[in-house]
Amino acid sequence: AAGLLKRALGSSNQQQVRCMSSATPKRKVAVLGAAGGIGQPLGLLMKLNPLVTDLSLYDIAATPGVASDLSHINTGAHVEGFAGDADLGKALKGCDLVIIPAGVPRKPGMTRDDLFNINAGIVRALATAIAEHCPEALVNMISNPVNSTVPIAAEVFKQKGTYDPKRLFGVTTLDVVRARTFLAHKKGISVKGVDVPVVGGHAGVTILPLFSQASPKIELSDEEIEYLTKRTQDGGTEVVQAKAGKGSATLSMAYAGALFAESCLKGLNGAQDIVECSYVASTVVPGLPYFSSKVRLGPNGVEEVMGLGNISDYEQKGLEALKSELMSSIQKGVDFINVKA
Ligand code: NAI
Repeated sequence: AAGLLKRALGSSNQQQVRCMSSATPKRKVAVLGAAGGIGQPLGLLMKLNPLVTDLSLYDIAATPGVASDLSHINTGAHVEGFAGDADLGKALKGCDLVIIPAGVPRKPGMTRDDLFNINAGIVRALATAIAEHCPEALVNMISNPVNSTVPIAAEVFKQKGTYDPKRLFGVTTLDVVRARTFLAHKKGISVKGVDVPVVGGHAGVTILPLFSQASPKIELSDEEIEYLTKRTQDGGTEVVQAKAGKGSATLSMAYAGALFAESCLKGLNGAQDIVECSYVASTVVPGLPYFSSKVRLGPNGVEEVMGLGNISDYEQKGLEALKSELMSSIQKGVDFINVKA
C-alpha cells in the first residue's frame, strides 16, 4: 500500500490523484489486434473498466481511429492508439497486462488449427516484442489455435530468458461463458449465479466442460450432458457458420476476454479468491504440459493451478479422448519455435 501511495503521489496529474483517492493502483493494459472484430469491443469494455488507468491499443493499421473514438468516452482510462511495427514497443512499454486477439479468425469449414500457419508467426512476433518491452506483464492469449499459441509464446519467452509460467494465460473463458448460458437455457433457470468449470484446451474435443461440477448443483440426464457437452465444444463453430464467412465469435469473445482480464487485474491488485479457468503451464494431467483448469489468480499472476476434483465417468472418457490431440497441438507450437525448417 505504501508503494502505491508513493506512486500515486509521484505525479500531479488528475488521473493519478483519482487513483490515490480510490486507492486503485495504476494499471496499463494493451490490446494487440485492437482494430479487429474482437479488439474493438474488447477495447470498449476495457475503457469502461475502472481498474484500467491506461489503455494502449495496437494493431498493424486503423488503431488511431479506434483510439480516437474510444478516447471520447468519459471514463477514467487514458487511451492511446499505436499502428504498425515501429510503434509496438511504445504500445507495450509499462504494461501490466497484454491481451492478444491479433490474427485471422475461422471461416466455415475451418478448424482452429487451420489458422496455425498465419497466426503462429503473428504470435511469435508479438511475444518477442513483449519479452523486450514489458517482460513482467501478464499475457492473455486469445489468438487461435490457443492450444498451440500459448506454447509458442512460452518458447519465445524461454529463448529471451523472460519466461514465467505464472504470467502466461490462454483465454478459455468463452467456453465457460457458453457452458453457463447453454446449461441455464436447457434447464430453464436464470443464468445468474450459474457456473461450469471447463477444462482441457480450446478446440473441439479438447474443450471439456465439467457439468458434474456445475453450480448450483443441477440434475442432468445422460442425454442432456451429451447435448450440453457437444454444444459447448461446437459453440465457436455455431457462430462461424451463422456468420457465414464473416468471421468467428467477436462480441461474446470480447465479453469473455474482458471478464478474464478483469480477474487478472483484480488478482494483481491483491483481491482474494479470484478463480478462473485458464489454459496454463500445468502438471494437473501427467504428460500434458499445458492444460486448462481452475486457476487462482493473484499479484504474481497464477498463484495456484487447481486440480480437477472428482469428475464423472463421462468426463473421464472425455479427458482420455482429448489427450492426444491436445499434446500434438502443444508439440506443434513448441516445434514452430525450436525446430528449424
Ligand atoms: P479480425 O480479423 O477481425 O481481427 C484481427 C486483428 O488482428 C485485425 O485487426 C488485424 O489487423 C490484427 N493483426 C493481424 N496481424 C497483426 C499483428 N502482427 N499485430 C497486431 N495486430 C495484428 O479477427 P477476430 O475475429 O478479432 O479474431 C482474432 C483472433 O481471435 C483469431 O485468431 C480468432 O480465431 C481468435 N478467437 C479466439 C477465441 C477464444 O476463445 N480464445 C474466440 C474467438 C476468436
